[in-house]
Amino acid sequence: MSDSPSVQIKQQVLDLRAQIEAHNHCYFVLDEPSIPDVEYDRLVRQLEQLERDYPELDDPDSPTHRVGARVAEGFDTVEHETPMLSLANAFDENEVAQFDQRIRDQLDLEQLDYLAEPKLDGLAISLQYEQSRLVQAATRGDGYTGENVTANVRTIRSIPLKVNAEDLPDQFEVRGEIFMSRSGFAELNQRLQANDEKTFVNPRNAASGTLRQLDPAITADRPLRFYAYAAIGLDDDAVNTQSSVMQRLREIGFPISPLIRQVSGLQGLFDFHRDTMEQRDGLDYDIDGVVYKLDDFDQQLEMGFVSRSPRWALAHKFPAEEAITTLREIKVQVGRTGKLTPVARLEPVFVGGVTVTNATLHNLDEIRRKDVRPGDSVIVRRAGDVIPEVVRAMTERREQDLPEWHLPTHCPVCGSKVEQVEGQADARCTGGLVCGAQRRRALEHFAMRTAMDIDGLGT
Ligand code: IVH
Repeated sequence: MSDSPSVQIKQQVLDLRAQIEAHNHCYFVLDEPSIPDVEYDRLVRQLEQLERDYPELDDPDSPTHRVGARVAEGFDTVEHETPMLSLANAFDENEVAQFDQRIRDQLDLEQLDYLAEPKLDGLAISLQYEQSRLVQAATRGDGYTGENVTANVRTIRSIPLKVNAEDLPDQFEVRGEIFMSRSGFAELNQRLQANDEKTFVNPRNAASGTLRQLDPAITADRPLRFYAYAAIGLDDDAVNTQSSVMQRLREIGFPISPLIRQVSGLQGLFDFHRDTMEQRDGLDYDIDGVVYKLDDFDQQLEMGFVSRSPRWALAHKFPAEEAITTLREIKVQVGRTGKLTPVARLEPVFVGGVTVTNATLHNLDEIRRKDVRPGDSVIVRRAGDVIPEVVRAMTERREQDLPEWHLPTHCPVCGSKVEQVEGQADARCTGGLVCGAQRRRALEHFAMRTAMDIDGLGT
């Protein structure tokens, strides 16, 4: 089509863009999809078609261009006007108490107001806006210079390309965290595995790898998310606390974590830490602690900085969910139906707040796929109350040639032959009730509450 677009067509394009941006906001910012996916896709396709038919109506800020243009090679470096600093860490309540005490002493106050936020486990990003438009996105880098990843960041749907609000300054900066959801990460890894491509170790890595893709089309195809946690240049006489800046950011269309809370005093900090830790497993993204920020900007100014972190903020970390230890041996457990489950016996290791000596290896395929061998250094993960698991073997640390592990040919309990069906991950003991382990599990199963419910007969 080469006719110049009519007034109606122009209006239709503008309407479609507005609709799609509104749906993006619901879906990616509010986490509340407003229409079914197919309907959304239909709108996008319609707009794409019109933009193809009438190239003169095309606009670099159209939602169809969230799939950015290819970056030539590598990334340019960007100097941060305001350095991107880091946070001091606390690992126990004592260190938090010292932090609070020090501020109260210096400010000569009885009790302080804080904004408490989750500490998102992703990567920090700086977004520069000029005349309400996103003009530059940069990684933290070394804090002073970062990488210009604008083309990639433009593909993240929850990041506004244009801010629609009155009375905005000509120039401002929004900072926050880019991360990948756990479900998005699992899906992405499945996809990579199916294509025989290298998978990512955790969502943080996946987010970082995705943001550093040289081809923004790949970035666009992966589920990155964003929460803002700071702004430079948006404060004024009325917006003079961390909580009011967050409120302002939310009002003008930036996604803000729903977990942030204004709290008072040391007890308020401890309560937030405990409550957030309890919610941790239920979230679809990783957090590795909470962050406390003195709410009042004048108070922040008075506290100032020490080396590279502010004295007015603190990261209170959660116990790490992953640790490295040595795999002593792989034992095989026999279940009620004879199914064999490999279990890792580990050098005791403190992870997720407890000492762990056993971890699941899931099944035989997993052992083979992960190339886990007795004697290896392994990464163990214990998230919440979930059974600890061996995430992977650190094959890069393998010094001598360790023998591969093989499934026993005979049951370790009764000596019957082990049967493995070709193409299936499971193997089983063929002993039936001859096998002491199967007999025992069968008896437990018979007596349990949901079966015969035999009082006084426990494991
Ligand atoms: S504030 C000067 N708030 O933690 C303070 N950081 O060690 C600047 N992070 O690089 C950061 N969640 O990537 C802040 N709610 C939050 C955060 C957060 C995660 C990360 C951020 C930063 C690192 C600081």
